[in-house]
Amino acid sequence: MKTITLSLILLTIFQNTLSLIPPKFQWKILDFAWESHARDAALASGAYIPQNNMPAGLARWKNKLFITIPRWKKGVPSSLNYIFVNGSQTQLLNPYPSWGEAFVSDRACCITSNSTVVSAFRIHVDKCDRLWVVDNGVADMTGELKQVTAPAILIFDLNENRLIRRYVLDDDVLRDSSVLTSIVVDITGKGCDNSYAYIPDMGSNALIVYSLKRNNAWRVENHFFHFDPHSGVYNVGGINFYWSDGVSSVVLVPSKRTSGYRDLFFHPTSSTKQFRISTKLLRDEHEPKENIFSGAEVLGDRGPLSQATACDYDPISNVLFYTQLSKNGVSCWNLDRPLTEENVPLIISDCTILEFPSDIKIDTDSNLWILSNRQSRFLYESMDFNQVNFRILSAPVNLMIQGTACEKLSTVEKALSFIKRPKTYK
Ligand SMILES: *[C@@H]1O[C@H](CO)[C@@H](O)[C@H](O)[C@H]1NC(C)=O
Ligand SMILES: *[C@@H]1O[C@H](CO)[C@@H](O)[C@H](O)[C@H]1NC(C)=O
Repeated sequence: MKTITLSLILLTIFQNTLSLIPPKFQWKILDFAWESHARDAALASGAYIPQNNMPAGLARWKNKLFITIPRWKKGVPSSLNYIFVNGSQTQLLNPYPSWGEAFVSDRACCITSNSTVVSAFRIHVDKCDRLWVVDNGVADMTGELKQVTAPAILIFDLNENRLIRRYVLDDDVLRDSSVLTSIVVDITGKGCDNSYAYIPDMGSNALIVYSLKRNNAWRVENHFFHFDPHSGVYNVGGINFYWSDGVSSVVLVPSKRTSGYRDLFFHPTSSTKQFRISTKLLRDEHEPKENIFSGAEVLGDRGPLSQATACDYDPISNVLFYTQLSKNGVSCWNLDRPLTEENVPLIISDCTILEFPSDIKIDTDSNLWILSNRQSRFLYESMDFNQVNFRILSAPVNLMIQGTACEKLSTVEKALSFIKRPKTYK
C-alpha cells in the first residue's frame, strides 16, 4: 500500500515537473569557435559584437544542431551556425558550412561565396539530408538596414557540406516590406528532385512558392495571410509591443481530400486562428487568383493570447506544436480533434526558461526542440548578460503530449469525432 502511494506521489511529481524539462543548451551570451586570433580581430573591427547576437531558429540533423542568428543589429559574424547535439551545454557556435563562407562583416559590399547566408530566421532539414535556408540578405535590420545581397534560397547537401543551389529571388516575387521568416519543403513523387519550398513573407503578407525542378518561384497572396487587429498586442518579459505581423510559419500535413497533394497549414503571427490551403492550388503558378482566394479555409481559433511565431507538425502523432509567446510556452493540437481552445492545451510553460519561445522543431527521432531567446528584451529594452538568455530544450514528443488533449484518440473517441466532425474536416 505504502509503495503504491509513494509511486503515485512520485508519478504526480514527475508529471508536474514535465513543465520543467532542463535546457539541453543554454547561454548568457553567444560566442563562436574562432580560428586562432580571429576573435580579437573581429572584436576590434566590430565584426563581432557579442551582445548583438541573438539566436532565432533551429533545426537538428544527426549530430548537428543548426542555429540561426538574424542580423538584427551590427556585429553578427555568422548567421548560419551549428553545435553538436552530444556536446556541452554552453558550446561555441560553428559557422556553416565554414568560417570562410559564412563570415560577413557589416561593411561587406557583397557576398564572397554562393554558400554565404547573410541573414536567416528559421531553417528546414528535409528527408533527403538537405538543409534549406531562406536568406533575407540584409545586415543591421534595426539600424542602418543594408541589403548586402539579394534575398535567396540556399540548399545544402548535409552529407557533403556542399551547396546544391542558390536561387536568387526575383524582384517580382518580393516587396519592399518583405521579411522571409521560415521555409518548409514538400518532396513529391519519387526521389528528391521534385521538391517545392513554401516561404512565408511575414512583412508583405504572402507566400513564395519555389519549384526545385523548374528552378522557378512565384508569389501567392491571400487575405488570410494578413494579421488580425484583435491579436496585435503583446506583453512578453514585462515588455509591451505591437506587431502587425502576417503569415510567418507553415507546415505540411498529409491530405485525405486531394491525393498526391498535401495541405499547407498556415497562420499569421498576430492571429490566434489556424488556416489551411491545399498545395494543389499553390503548386501551379498559373492557378487563377479566385481559386486561391476561395481555397483557403479557417479551421478554428486557439483562443485568446495564443499568438505563435512558429509551429511544427509530427506526422507520427498527427499533432501540431505551437510556440506561445504570450504564455511563455508551447501548446499542441491533435489534428484528429476539432480546433477549439480546449483542444489546444499549453503543455509546457515557464516565464524564465521559456521567455519568448522563438522556434520549435520536431526531428526524425520524434523529439521536440524548443528555442527561447528573450527577444522582446533584445529588441526593445536591454538584456542582462549575467543571466542565461538563450535556451534550447528537447524532449520526446510522446512524453510532452502524455495525458493531454493532444494524446492519441481512443477508438471510441475516434468514432465519435468522425460523427461529430464539422464540415471543413471532411
Ligand atoms: C560526439 O559524437 C561523435 C560521433 O558522432 C564523437 O566523435 C564525439 O567524440 C562525441 N563527443 C562527445 C563530447 O561525446
Ligand atoms: C555564384 O554562382 C554564379 C552562377 O554559377 C556565378 O556566376 C557567381 O560568380 C557566383 N558568385 C560567387 C560570389 O561565387
